[in-house]
Parts: sequence; C-alpha cells; structure tokens
Amino acid sequence: MNANRAVVSAVVVLLMTFGFVMVGAKAQSSGAVHAASQGQEAANAAGPKKAEEQFKNIQVLKGIPADQIFPAMQFITASLGVECDFCHVQGAFEKDDKKNKQTARKMMAMMFAINKDNFEGHRLVTCNSCHRGSAVPQAIPAVMSEEPKDAMGGPKPAEVKENAGPAADQLLDKYVQAAGGAAAIDKVTSRVMKGTIDFGGKDLPIDIYSKDPDQRISFTHMPEGDSVTAFNGREGWLGTPGRPGVREMRGSELDAASIDADLHLATHLRPMFTEMKVEGTEKVGDHEVYVVVGQRAGKPPLRLYFDEQSGLLVRLVRFGDTALGLLPTQIDYADYRDTNGVKIPYRWTLARPSGRFTIQVSEVKQNIPVDDAKFVKPAAEEQKGPGK
Ligand code: HEC
Ligand code: HEC
Repeated sequence: MNANRAVVSAVVVLLMTFGFVMVGAKAQSSGAVHAASQGQEAANAAGPKKAEEQFKNIQVLKGIPADQIFPAMQFITASLGVECDFCHVQGAFEKDDKKNKQTARKMMAMMFAINKDNFEGHRLVTCNSCHRGSAVPQAIPAVMSEEPKDAMGGPKPAEVKENAGPAADQLLDKYVQAAGGAAAIDKVTSRVMKGTIDFGGKDLPIDIYSKDPDQRISFTHMPEGDSVTAFNGREGWLGTPGRPGVREMRGSELDAASIDADLHLATHLRPMFTEMKVEGTEKVGDHEVYVVVGQRAGKPPLRLYFDEQSGLLVRLVRFGDTALGLLPTQIDYADYRDTNGVKIPYRWTLARPSGRFTIQVSEVKQNIPVDDAKFVKPAAEEQKGPGK
C-alpha cells in the first residue's frame, strides 16, 4: 500500500473515532457536572447504550452496544477495501443517500442468515469471506499469472504445518526461561523506554513509561503536540494533539491495552487461558516458529508465535470483537536484548488492516521510580460553561 495514503487514512480513522465518541459523550453527560469517576459509575449503572439509542438510523444492527458501531464499520471498511465515504455522505452518517449503504444493509442481513441457516449461528461467514478486500467479490477463479515457482508442490510460506513437537505448556515454559526466568521477570517493577516510532516513513520520538501493575503511558512527540496512549490498570484513554480532552478506550481496546501494559506478560499468559493448543509450525521472517492458540473466557483468543530456536515470543496476534467479525492486530517483536537480567524486545511492529507502525527503542531504564501521577486520567471532555 502507498505509505502516504496509509498515514492519511489512519489519521482520518483516528479523527473519526474521536468525533463519534465526543458526540456520544455529550449525549451522555447532559446536565450534571460530576467528578470523572462518579460520571463513569453513573454510566455503568444505566447499562451500555444501544446503537439505536445513540445513532439516528440503525435498522439492522439494533440491540448491539452503541460503542460497537464504530468497530463494526472498521470491519466493513477493511473487508471491502474502501473508505467510509463509499457508503456515507460526509458529515451525515445517518443518511441513506448512497446505494452502497443500502446494499450493505442487505448484505448484513444476508450474512446473519447464511450463518444461522448453515453454521448453527456461528459467525463463520463474514463480509471478508466473500469480499477479501474488494468491493465486488470475484466469482471466477483467476488463471495462473506466472510460471509455477514451486513445481515440487512444497508448502507455501504462510501455511501452518501439522506439528508433532512440544506441547503448549512446554513452549510457554521455554519462553519464560528464554526471557530470563519467572523470578527475574516478576521482579521488574517499572520500565522507561525512549525511542522512535516509524509511521509511514516518518520517524517521530516516543517515550513509554510502564509501571507494575499494568500501568502504561506513551507519548509520541508530534510537531503539533503529544499523541498519548494510556492505560492505568482499569481505564484506557487516547489523546490527540490539538484536541481538548481525551477519548476513552472501550471493550477490545481495553483488553489490548492491558496486554501491552503487563510487564510480566510471559508469566501471566498461562493463567489467562482456559485452553491452549499448538496449531503447528509456520515461518515468521526466516525463522521457524511454533503457533500456540490460547482460548480465553469471554474474550477472543490470542495467537502466540514462539521461535523454535530461541524460544522467545516473536509474534502475538489479538482480535478486536465487532458486531460483524474479528479485527486482527499483529505485533512482531524483534531485537531482543538482555536488560537487567530479562530479555525484552527493543523493536516491535504493530499491524492492523488500517495501518502499521514500528517502534525502535534506543534506551531502556528498568526498576526506577515512576510517579503514579503519570497514570492519572485527565477529564474525558473539557467542561464548558459555568461548571468549571
Ligand atoms: C459498505 C458500506 C459502509 C461503509 C464502508 C461504512 N459504513 Fe457506516 N454504516 C453502513 C450501514 C449499512 C449503516 C446502517 C446500519 C444499520 O442500519 O443497522 C451504517 C451506519 C453508520 C453509522 C450510524 C449512523 C446513524 O446515525 O444512524 C455511523 C456513525 C457509521 N456508519 C460510521 C461509519 C464510519 C466512520 C465508516 C468508516 C470507518 C463507515 N461507517 C463505513 C454502511 C457502511
Ligand atoms: C456470500 C458472499 C457475500 C458476503 C458474505 C457479503 N457480500 Fe457483499 N457482495 C457480494 C457479491 C457477490 C456482490 C456483488 C453483487 C453484484 O455484482 O451486483 C456484493 C456487493 C456488495 C456491495 C456493492 C459493491 C458495489 O461496488 O457494487 C456492498 C456495498 C457490499 N457487498 C457490502 C457487504 C458487506 C458490508 C458485507 C458484510 C456485512 C457483505 N457485503 C457480505 C457477496 C457477499
């Protein structure tokens, strides 16, 4: 994909996300000026708002939580390889003026019916099963466009091979050992990293502070200010330069943030899973890896890729649940270095259908004091008027 286009669409998605939640936040916080925590409790007591209560023109996705609409829209966009304006009129998402939006409604109903009638209601067929990144699915198989490279019929690189090797438990143990051992890993109390984030060919400085238990905040220094991603063990938030207030993380975003914030992830993996299975071996770069799938209660599974040689975790794939299907996030860990007795990655690439970035760390300080004040959430929205 063209790098500039990727950056532009990622920024658009960010702004869009922000815009929606602001609309939602305004609707919810009508009247009373609460302290942030009281406001949150009140919202929880009322139960999550339904999509049709928050948005103006929901006909098919009725009954799902309102904050599932945006992830569902991201899922559609990724499956069809289009942008929001393929179906929506600028600034008036409720309007049905575009034919593609009307078609999409019929397609949703069709998808639900296919799964209900053929797959016992399991969400096996999604928009992506047919569309695979294009607006008009291909009904006719393609002819071979090049001479076959692999006349001997060997396995393709991404194919998972059957495995008769170690069990999942052993692979998790080997990972803990390779990363320095349980005692050393669990002793880490904080980690402060400086580095750069490469976002579509642009390098920006980034600072990341992590503190046990499960607190993490990163500051990407952009020319117009800092972009912030934070998690304090319970709540997560995102700050965009030039925008007042922060956007709160929801659902799968919180799950993802808690994984990233865990300084002891290596020793915490096993208790997370209700079931673990070695799916086989695969290649990540030029390394053979074991693929372990961990099932979790009430959350999408995690896919873990352990280097056959070093035993280290070189890839983690997690999924955001949406009303229409799962959205993957793949993180590739590299440049593992020994730091105060534990091995940690100094480089990682995070990739989603909508974009990717790479962080390269140049300096790490571990087990130094980090002020708790760093992880205090600012007000969700700047209070206007007489309240403040
Ligand atoms: C392929 C078509 C399609 C694309 C692309 C698409 N949407 Fe939608 N969107 C729909 C349909 C259909 C509905 C109505 C769903 C229903 O009736 O249950 C909808 C509803 C919405 C709503 C609710 C509007 C209201 O007030 O009723 C919002 C907001 C929205 N979409 C945002 C987005 C955003 C943001 C994007 C890009 C990330 C996007 N959509 C991409 C088809 C699409
Ligand atoms: C079972 C396969 C299948 C599934 C599942 C499916 N589609 Fe489609 N979709 C098609 C086919 C085939 C066409 C092309 C129809 C045609 O050529 O007129 C199409 C066309 C469309 C179009 C019109 C595109 C254009 O340029 O004319 C939209 C929009 C669309 N689908 C959205 C969706 C969405 C959103 C989902 C998931 C909720 C979805 N589809 C799921 C098969 C599918």
